[in-house]
Amino acid sequence: MTVTTAPITPETGIQYTGLHGADLVDPAVARELRTALETHGVVVCREADVDDAELVALSRMLGEVVVAPIGGDTTHPEISAVTLDPTKSDLASYRRSTFYWHIDGTNDAVPQKATLLTAREVAEDGGDTEFANTYAAYDALPDDEKQRIASLRVVHSFKASQLLVTPDPTAKELAAWERVPAREHPLVWTRSTGRKSLLVGATTDHIVGMPADESRALLDHYLDWATQPRFTVRHSWRRGDLVIWDNTGMLHRALPYQPTSRRLMHRTTLIGEEAVA
Ligand SMILES: [Fe+2]
Repeated sequence: MTVTTAPITPETGIQYTGLHGADLVDPAVARELRTALETHGVVVCREADVDDAELVALSRMLGEVVVAPIGGDTTHPEISAVTLDPTKSDLASYRRSTFYWHIDGTNDAVPQKATLLTAREVAEDGGDTEFANTYAAYDALPDDEKQRIASLRVVHSFKASQLLVTPDPTAKELAAWERVPAREHPLVWTRSTGRKSLLVGATTDHIVGMPADESRALLDHYLDWATQPRFTVRHSWRRGDLVIWDNTGMLHRALPYQPTSRRLMHRTTLIGEEAVA
């Protein structure tokens, strides 16, 4: 195989071309992809054409794989279908919130380590995925600002993310969202290595102990800061592409596409290895 690699931006993302199917479950390749994920945050394997068994095998080589609680595939329960078509996924109605910047699993103590997403069918129109590097966004803050925000704590809720999509929910919808427990995290996530990132996105509900207006303005400000073009990369999908990203440090969002679109992704996620601290 002839494999070429190219960084997507100096800070974020690396693209591989020439890796296909079984190449990706070679242990040496999987090791390289794992290192690339840590260094670059987003790893794109153009037209990798992995089948479901290869997707699960590669996922297992990169970490411990989440078994999807609902919406999982019957042959490969680790795989979720990502689509807006309700006949293909039980979760289709929640997927519109993925048009907003988010990290998966912010309602969990230990957010998922990484996501692997491969395109089975791409949208005719729209449906690109964007990533924002929240390590780079934190690093670029002035030192006095880093100090000012060091002790802020933020409540994340499912409700906050759903209100972006459905601002006027019914009582029943609201009650369903509120059944998902909220979770408090620091605004700045410090890893055991000392690396820090901004933990912001669609699920931020409020900053603990701050008036509501001020809290919302500050959360919006840091989301805007982290998602400036200089910290982001955008992936335009081709059928067969595989994209792996560090879910703890890269915010992501899908760009809108039609609910009738044939766009269909197969996804696996890796269990988090570090609690937010
Ligand atoms: Fe997501």
